[in-house]
Amino acid sequence: MNDIRVELAERSYNINFGKTLPVLAPRKTLLVTDSNIYKLYADLLKEMVKPADIFVIPAGEESKNADTFLAICRKAAELHLGRDCRFAAAGGGVTGDLTGFAASCYLRGVPFIQIPTSLLAMVDSSVGGKTGIDIPEGKNLIGAFHQPESVTVNTAFLATLSDRELANGLAEVVKTAAIADEKFFSFLEDNAKHLYDRGKTALFDEIVRRCCEIKAHVVSCDEKESGLRAILNYGHTFAHPVETLSSYRISHGEAVSIGMECAGLLALELGMWSKEQYLRQAALLDALHLPRRLPENTDIDSVIELMKSDKKNRNGKITFVLPVSTGSVKVVSDIPVELIRKVISEN
Ligand code: GLY
Repeated sequence: MNDIRVELAERSYNINFGKTLPVLAPRKTLLVTDSNIYKLYADLLKEMVKPADIFVIPAGEESKNADTFLAICRKAAELHLGRDCRFAAAGGGVTGDLTGFAASCYLRGVPFIQIPTSLLAMVDSSVGGKTGIDIPEGKNLIGAFHQPESVTVNTAFLATLSDRELANGLAEVVKTAAIADEKFFSFLEDNAKHLYDRGKTALFDEIVRRCCEIKAHVVSCDEKESGLRAILNYGHTFAHPVETLSSYRISHGEAVSIGMECAGLLALELGMWSKEQYLRQAALLDALHLPRRLPENTDIDSVIELMKSDKKNRNGKITFVLPVSTGSVKVVSDIPVELIRKVISEN
């Protein structure tokens, strides 16, 4: 399969597909992976990234914090890695975001590569250079833009993903289609019944590839999210508070799915899109067994408070990415808080 290029002048890189890494300058490598991936794929990873020292972090969103970030940096220091090293992240979004952030800070910045192993990381988080950690005040509030040297996507890793992990990624797949490509959205509708069938490798290859093409295009147009890139946050203004308030028991993808439903309801209230389009999105989320309802007893004030820390906000106004039609969205920030409350209470 041909590589996909993320065009960013001197920070450009390729997304390549398959089992082998592209040829890169030789560097001492610190390979970071999580305990689940290490158990399943230690040999494959040692083969892919060699020679490398390996640092294993506990699997789960709870690891995406300042302690683990420091532990990675300290491991590199303990190994006396200099500026001629690189970090490699093999895992899902947590491993990629953390390792990328550590790479952006260690010795004021060293290169890193991404080897995404979850669907979510393959279709979204490994591409585009967003790195960071969570703090109690909110998700991803500390971080840096630090582009990888390469992203190597091997969909064979999907074979061992749980249904819940697959769902986590499928929500970002629906998001990608919903913001940019009506034809791709129809493709997902046509294939929804196969999207938990890990044997359909060609189907997953096609889906991952299309998502990477869309993401590469958006990031190439707007690396630091001063405009277009905000559309990748469709559903996320609602999702981040939901994830944070659940102490990450609700996964990112589940929260994004609920967030797309809420954004859809808000767009309906504003007369921005039709009931028919809203029902179309709801039907695809349902067909993929993705949640649309906020957890019972969601505290509206806490959601609004956390929304105030959203990175998209400008001039103190909560900003939303709202759908205008299937495959097209708009960034909106002058929405009365009462309307946001209404959508949350009626969801
Ligand atoms: N996941 C959103 C972005 O990369 O901009």
